[in-house]
Amino acid sequence: MSAKLIKGSEIREQILAEIKKEVEDIKAKYGKVPGLVTILVGENPASISYVTLKVQTAHSLGFHEVQDSQPVDLSEEALLALIDKYNKDESINGILVQLPLPKHINEKKVLTAIDPDKDVDGFHPVNVGRLMIGGSEVKFPPCTPAGIQELIVRSGTVTKGAEVVVVGRSNIVGKPIAVMMMQKAKGADSTVTVVHTGTKDLAGHCKRADILIVAAGVPGLVKPEWIKPGACVIDVGVNRVGEKVSEKTGKPVPILRGDVDFDAAKEIAGSITPVPGGVGPMTITMLMANTLKSLKFKLGIPV
Ligand code: GUN
Repeated sequence: MSAKLIKGSEIREQILAEIKKEVEDIKAKYGKVPGLVTILVGENPASISYVTLKVQTAHSLGFHEVQDSQPVDLSEEALLALIDKYNKDESINGILVQLPLPKHINEKKVLTAIDPDKDVDGFHPVNVGRLMIGGSEVKFPPCTPAGIQELIVRSGTVTKGAEVVVVGRSNIVGKPIAVMMMQKAKGADSTVTVVHTGTKDLAGHCKRADILIVAAGVPGLVKPEWIKPGACVIDVGVNRVGEKVSEKTGKPVPILRGDVDFDAAKEIAGSITPVPGGVGPMTITMLMANTLKSLKFKLGIPV
């Protein structure tokens, strides 16, 4: 059997088209568009490319977008003052501070300075708490877990009563996706197990999974014999395992590998995300969805 591919790059286009349409409708009715500011401190090349993509995507959807690039020696106090300025700016619905920050800046202090109602990353403790409570309390689910849930739902996978096994317990993927999948809600209502580096029988747990979500950061960790035949496999891993020369540009590009042994796993799974082109494209997409949601909350439009 060869698994159905869950293509994040295609699902992204569907969601972006839906967002664009809603932005046009809201603009026509209320004269407002979602506003997103992206704050980048320093010149980390990976961060520059992420931020550029976020700004381009926001622009393509008709958002008001502000890219605020600051020097690497910006003081913590100055960054907090900048956040305060955007917290008060009526034209801004979403504030994103690109991580990692330079070492002299306290990340926790910065993330908690963002107004929770503009925290479209969903990293503020208030939004972490709202996610845990679930239901209508939830404002901004963190973007990568939200993207994973969209992939599961839009690929037609049944979640109600499903055995979900999450490999990894990070604050940005493992813990939130586990909480989201166990809520009594559409696209969830699953029985969730979280496994990690302290788990005794990793293989045994994975073998029970109807939906296996792997966010461990270990290339090829999940072996094909750990996969239940027909399972839905979501591979969140993006591991650089070498370099190759791009056929298009002639420049060196990283070779990326997931946490799952894809070639063998696709013969056993019912559906599976590729790396790249699976979960990766969903994170920025859900950032856009959260920014639109933020404007809708402000205007009192049901979400
Ligand atoms: N750096 C890498 N990924 C992310 C993200 O999703 N949000 C922020 N703020 N920084 C990041």
